[in-house]
Amino acid sequence: MTHPDDIRAWRRAHVPVFNDNKLKLGIFGMNCSNGCTITHAPTSFEPTYQHNVKIAKLADRIGLELLVPVGRWKHFGGSTQFNANNLEVYTWATAMACNTEKLMVFATSHVPTVHPLLAAKQSATIDNISAGRFGLNIVCGWFRPEIEMFGIEQRDHDARYRMADEWLSVIKQAWTEQDFDHHGEFYNIKGGFLLPKPVQQPYPTLINAGSSEAGREFSARHVDYNFITITTEEEAAFLIKDVKARAAAHRRECGVMTYGLVCCRDTEAEAREVYDSIVRHGDWEATENIMKMLGIESSSFGNKDTVRNLGERFIAGWGGYPLVGTPEQVVEKMQHIHAMGIDGFILSWLDYAQELEYFGERVMPLLRQAGLRV
Ligand SMILES: Cc1cc2nc3c(=O)[nH]c(=O)nc-3n(C[C@H](O)[C@H](O)[C@H](O)COP(=O)(O)O)c2cc1C
Repeated sequence: MTHPDDIRAWRRAHVPVFNDNKLKLGIFGMNCSNGCTITHAPTSFEPTYQHNVKIAKLADRIGLELLVPVGRWKHFGGSTQFNANNLEVYTWATAMACNTEKLMVFATSHVPTVHPLLAAKQSATIDNISAGRFGLNIVCGWFRPEIEMFGIEQRDHDARYRMADEWLSVIKQAWTEQDFDHHGEFYNIKGGFLLPKPVQQPYPTLINAGSSEAGREFSARHVDYNFITITTEEEAAFLIKDVKARAAAHRRECGVMTYGLVCCRDTEAEAREVYDSIVRHGDWEATENIMKMLGIESSSFGNKDTVRNLGERFIAGWGGYPLVGTPEQVVEKMQHIHAMGIDGFILSWLDYAQELEYFGERVMPLLRQAGLRV
């Protein structure tokens, strides 16, 4: 009998993230104020429903595969109050699905703030509304004030992943079975029932960005794509190999994607100036709050210069891979990253709508020429 987690054995041919494009492309973080740039650099971007619809429609027309929101309950302080104003992810995913036709919409769901039956129900509903274009990004909740705001205990790191494991197991049961009982460490379900079931079978597409050992193991056991931060190429190579090997040990496949900020202009000097302006107008207070929370200020990240460089990468793209340069240079960088074993990129821009238009006109044709897209 086919193992239910052996995703390739199931027909999900219509699902964009499993299409023939070697490098899938998406958008990251547009539901939040400031998106993925912690800066006061001028932009027309707004985290409103109307502006998000404009970006989503453009992304659909250009042929991108996925939209991934950031799941955020509280801001990070500083003069930007970074990410303070943001659209709730399940509601947002429904709205984006109703305004697009082809691409996938994800909800980035925290585990401890949503009961698994509610997460299963909302996900199945959005998968039906979107005709099988929904995906779930699972986050355990690293930002303590968010979790404490709910009056919930912030569990230690590995307990968070144990909870996520049980949370997702209950959800998968709800998506595929009926009238089931579950008695676990975190949840008790009596006579679990769910209709409608999701359109995608056995499950809607699942992603996760865990990079710790517990996170990689969670991804390997459960999801279709793991998202990594490319800090150094050596570390990225290790993470890619490790996630795939762990998935294979569970008789599964798990792809690996990454994220980054695009600053692309006709000349390298212009592109560099956009990047420099983002950093020059950066909100260091919010950035330092994030880095402190993530433990990046610890000595294991090296000297003050290293921390400052990492800080710049947070200001310009949440620590993601910077894609700065002419269209040709951006494609070269994407080719390089793809050759390392990366299956996709979720992108952010200082000004999503304006710069996405340019990306569609100037970068997408070159990606096709380079064989990364059909
Ligand atoms: C692409 C990407 C998207 C993420 N989105 C969110 C998010 O929306 N909300 C959140 O609280 N954490 C988010 N995270 C953080 C991850 O959930 C996770 O805490 C982090 O990658 C560390 O995982 P680890 O503890 O396994 O190393 C994201 C991380 C990445 C790389």
